[in-house]
Amino acid sequence: MSAEDTHGSAEVAARVERRWATIAVIIVVGMALLAAFAGIHRATMPQPRVETTDPSRIHLSGEFVESNLGSVLEANGNVTVRAIGQQYSFTPACIVVPVDTPITLRATSADVVHGILIQGTNVNTMLVPGYISEQLMRFTRTGDYLMPCQEFCSFGHEGMWGKVEVIDKSDFADRAKGGGRLSCVGQ
Ligand code: CUA
Repeated sequence: MSAEDTHGSAEVAARVERRWATIAVIIVVGMALLAAFAGIHRATMPQPRVETTDPSRIHLSGEFVESNLGSVLEANGNVTVRAIGQQYSFTPACIVVPVDTPITLRATSADVVHGILIQGTNVNTMLVPGYISEQLMRFTRTGDYLMPCQEFCSFGHEGMWGKVEVIDKSDFADRAKGGGRLSCVGQ
């Protein structure tokens, strides 16, 4: 191989290297922008906001007492769902929400780490004792969605299931008329 050839291939190598370096930088910048976008829109964990709660007292007072769990229709038409996870169930075990409505899920754990996953949606959040998990959601079609616990939480984990029932907006409004907290437990 002549000196000129060696020089030529070194130039080719340098050019290829620069090209791939540029592609790598574009990928890294693109992923950083995606992460920033998701973070700004609170579409992913970790949450930009940390709220804490005392797991030994959630049954006694505050936002997560039993009488405050379930779905509530807010004055602005949005819905807030409050739930807790404990070994081995969710309360409420059946969550009822209206279709096509902005919903804020607020949940925590009474004992160990659990997870809430709603099948067929991007709702998937951990319930960590001492912390409140908040996730925005919206359902575009009515029906039943399974809600398994998706964090191993000891021997009863595989039996820890809940359900989300998405119903008509007007049906939900009817049921919410009397105020109070709605669920579909026992229906
Ligand atoms: Cu709760 Cu697994």
